[in-house]
Amino acid sequence: MKVMSIFGTRPEAIKMCPVIKELESREKIKSVVCLTGQHKEMLQPVMKLFEIKEDYNLRIMTENQSLSSITCKILDMLEELLNKEKPDMILVHGDTTSAYAAALSAFYHNIPVGHVEAGLRTYNMHSPFPEEFNRQSIDLVSDILFAPTQYAKDMLLSEKKGENKIFVTGNTVIDALKTTVCKSYNITECCEDDKLILLTAHRRENIGEPMKNIFSAVNKITEDYPEIKVIYPVHKNPKIREIANQFFANNSRVKMIEPMDVYDFHNVMNKSYLILTDSGGIQEEATSLGKPVLILRDTTERPEGVAAGTLKIVGTQTENIYLETKRLLTDKDEYNRMSKSVNPYGDGNASKTIVDIIERYFEGKL
Ligand code: UD1
Ligand code: UDP
Repeated sequence: MKVMSIFGTRPEAIKMCPVIKELESREKIKSVVCLTGQHKEMLQPVMKLFEIKEDYNLRIMTENQSLSSITCKILDMLEELLNKEKPDMILVHGDTTSAYAAALSAFYHNIPVGHVEAGLRTYNMHSPFPEEFNRQSIDLVSDILFAPTQYAKDMLLSEKKGENKIFVTGNTVIDALKTTVCKSYNITECCEDDKLILLTAHRRENIGEPMKNIFSAVNKITEDYPEIKVIYPVHKNPKIREIANQFFANNSRVKMIEPMDVYDFHNVMNKSYLILTDSGGIQEEATSLGKPVLILRDTTERPEGVAAGTLKIVGTQTENIYLETKRLLTDKDEYNRMSKSVNPYGDGNASKTIVDIIERYFEGKL
């Protein structure tokens, strides 16, 4: 049975590579990997780390690409590829526009869709944008829904998705973390006297004023707390780079670097004092590592970490971000409360569980 995994961005690669490794290990499955090429430099190091070679790359990325262009190019190029390859199942992950277009294309071709990381919701179509639309749409056309947690399953059930096609599998991000985080990792980016804040920001809806507010708060923190150093791997998006340069060019306590290799990033996360981010995946990783995260957004689809106490939504207003960061820097009890390691995302065997379910699906046993 031929299973084609289609994805295109860094986080999808990090969370799909463990699944692909598992697919490759099964005798009855032929695994085919198709990259959309939505990301380029940011994705390749992940494929290299996990030693996975793609069979196809649609190479769609352009500078400052639009959502329409990503969607149209993928739909158009998959038309020919799916007719040629005729996979028995298509696997997509999460909520990117690559995943959305691939699922839609599979649906148009009557090919069963398996959605890894199904059921995440904010029910706000503009936050995150366009991801909430993407994931709801993907779940509409999916034949197997791999929900990372019971909470995600409950969301799907509340939308009347058939219980027989929903499976709680854990999140494959934990499978990936198991292979990267290493206690003896030696971090050169900070010295012992520094408290390290790790910063990332890339959400489309944050580009513009919200991002400027975030960066102002970071500047204020480094001004008021000289023991703090901020490491900021800057997303490749030119719009983000422009704002970041504007705000941090003269701040030597904010170290802007290129996107990190995922091995380094996971280990730097593990060594950092706290994390400021609008990322989705980082919320899961930090929850499992027990690292406090202040979420630079108004919503989260990862309430498990909020319930566990590791994540806190702080929005994108300068003052609030500053005050919440200050609290974590000065209030030990609050810091300790948010640093408890909990893991709502499974034991690192999500990929195995997912592929077992796929095999059962092909055997007609679901
Ligand atoms: C995409 C996803 C988002 C996900 C994020 C993970 C959509 C709509 N957005 O957003 O859900 O959270 O990836 O990082 O699917 N660029 C490069 N090289 C790269 C990658 C990007 O130069 O390797 C630049 C290009 O100019 C590109 C721009 O960044 O046009 C934006 O990339 P895009 O994939 O459209 O948006 P992301 O913000 O990365
Ligand atoms: N990440 C990475 N290098 C970096 C920043 C992030 O490898 O410099 C990893 C991070 O560990 C997580 C994923 O990229 O697994 C998150 O990607 P991103 O924040 O771009 O997307 P999102 O999760 O919000 O979709």
